[in-house]
Amino acid sequence: MPDPADAAASIERSLSTLRATFRQRFEAAATEQLLRDENAKILGKSGELKAVLNQMGSVPAESRKAIGTIVNTLRQEVEAAFDAQLQALSRKQRDAELNAAPFDLSLPARSPSPLGHAHPISKVRDEIVDVLVSLGFAVHDGPEVEIADNNFTKLGFPADHPATDMQDSFWTTGGLLLRTHTSNIQIRAMMSHKPPMAFIAPGVVYRRDDDATHSPMFHQIECFLVDRNVTLANLRGVLSEFAERYFGSGTPVRLRPSYFPFVEPGAEVDVGCPFCKQPDGTRAGCSVCKRTGWIEILGCGLIHPVVFEHCGIDPEQWTGFAFGMGVERVGMIKYGIPDVRLLFENDPRFLEQF
Ligand code: PHE
Repeated sequence: MPDPADAAASIERSLSTLRATFRQRFEAAATEQLLRDENAKILGKSGELKAVLNQMGSVPAESRKAIGTIVNTLRQEVEAAFDAQLQALSRKQRDAELNAAPFDLSLPARSPSPLGHAHPISKVRDEIVDVLVSLGFAVHDGPEVEIADNNFTKLGFPADHPATDMQDSFWTTGGLLLRTHTSNIQIRAMMSHKPPMAFIAPGVVYRRDDDATHSPMFHQIECFLVDRNVTLANLRGVLSEFAERYFGSGTPVRLRPSYFPFVEPGAEVDVGCPFCKQPDGTRAGCSVCKRTGWIEILGCGLIHPVVFEHCGIDPEQWTGFAFGMGVERVGMIKYGIPDVRLLFENDPRFLEQF
């Protein structure tokens, strides 16, 4: 049986050693796990403090209270130091995360997935728009569901014109129709703007047509200009410039008289066939141009005085030209696409060529 006084002294020594070292031990723990391990070594069920308490039985009764107080104080100090160090560690870890570079710019890219690209119709439309915008035209937008007035009547279509027929156009039950051309934008622009004006209007149009060269839904670009003293020469100049810039320099243009109710005179426009062009600039004729050397690309004319009147513009003072081209048609010519339906089937083997 050890001397009770020695036992008390031994306990006090152990406690003062522990008090002198626990802070350093906690501070030395670099991770939360190491810190918790260290804490368990001191305060755990078989920890150092418990070992000390196990010796209390051999301490004389009069010393127990004093030692008990020391133990309790020390336990509180250890617990407080543990909590403080735990917080310090998590603060350090958060600072490290905040200060770290958010991502590694030098990492190689993940295996590249194919990016895709604009649909050929969008591409052709954008190319045409770019050319006309570079000539000074502004883009005007408008609805695809239209009143007959803007699509037909104000453009001078007589009431019994075949285009107004159920067989040719898509009508809603409410008496509206899917616009059959972008010429409705001529009306809308002239009703809402004072001349002079120079607009293009790219958009979707609808007709009851479906074969190798016609789709029930297709794209047009309308182009029109209203100013004083506009003549066919102005129209021709813009068309020649467009053909040069879009199909290539030296592309000839010709106007063939034709009829549209909203122009007078009216014409259809051909460009020199890009497929059979010879080095000397002549055309040999090929299957695409049906051996004529010419391909039709659009309808055009000088804006009819009646159209001006319908829009509240004085035809004695104002003149203008208009033309409208099919985007698919122009794209088919430029890229040698034989069937318009290829543009709508969205077969990747076809689309990938553009
Ligand atoms: N709107 C006509 C069509 O769709 C084209 C056109 C536009 C003709 C402007 C003359 C002037 O066929």
